[in-house]
Amino acid sequence: GKHLRLLEFNGKLYPNFPAEVITNIKSLELREDDVIISAYPKSGTHWMFEICRMLLAGRTDLEVISKVDFMIELMEQDVLDQAKSPRVLNSHVAFSDLPTDLAVKKPKIIYIRRNPKDVAVSFYNHCYRISELYDYKGEYKDFLELFINGTVEYNCWYKQVLDWEKVIDNNTEYSILHLTYEDLKADPISEIRKISDFLQVNRNEELIQEICDLCSFSKMEKRKGHILADENGKSKIYRKGEVGDWKNWFTVAQSERFDRIYRERMAGSKLKFRYSLENED
Ligand code: A3P
Repeated sequence: GKHLRLLEFNGKLYPNFPAEVITNIKSLELREDDVIISAYPKSGTHWMFEICRMLLAGRTDLEVISKVDFMIELMEQDVLDQAKSPRVLNSHVAFSDLPTDLAVKKPKIIYIRRNPKDVAVSFYNHCYRISELYDYKGEYKDFLELFINGTVEYNCWYKQVLDWEKVIDNNTEYSILHLTYEDLKADPISEIRKISDFLQVNRNEELIQEICDLCSFSKMEKRKGHILADENGKSKIYRKGEVGDWKNWFTVAQSERFDRIYRERMAGSKLKFRYSLENED
């Protein structure tokens, strides 16, 4: 269809997973040494998950697992409890929808954001490729309307990013590291070093270099692409991994309209997004 098959709960849209799981999220019990990766969908969660796991473990030869199995909104308490500390968890929900235990345990939070044009393109491909979940067969131009209107899983990009900006700006009680997909792409070594400092694991340059290499798009795709792949073995998650792919999808008119809507919705925001890794930003 032209719309995504989603689950509605408390006036918000979620992936079409069992409602019992998603309704659980507020009451889940966390641990102080958890690391929670928060991001709007398609902003680099898989990438950050792998980097954090390697940094915490202090080695790179880890078991191949999927971040999808560690999404807070899809986990039951007993499954969460079975995971060994320190756990790397992740979520796409709004800050205010995270477990209330967050305010008690105060785990470290890494928030990653990505420019919305690349997010829209990546999100379209995600929904189109995982058609068994979303029952979706629309074209990019149609999806762009769903994205702008927030009728996608995890709702409106603009609202969620603005909410996180407020949380980060006014934060005095949480330990939050705020990163962007574009910075991670442009200078992975220094960003991974930042994450290492934030996690207080103090990894040496050799390990940071090794993590940078093994978490590159092509190596991650090789190692983990099979977890969710189509019948030809092509990964549905590791698609392109670049900054600026939006230029291959947006017409000039679509881009100008998108910029106009961005300026309206994000008025008052101080956030800067990079739409390219070249100088023309
Ligand atoms: P593209 O569709 O633009 O390729 P998330 O993990 O939040 O679902 O985000 C998925 C996006 O991150 C996809 O973007 C995916 O290819 C990209 N990605 C995954 N691993 C990456 C890596 N190691 N380096 C760069 N991008 C990566």
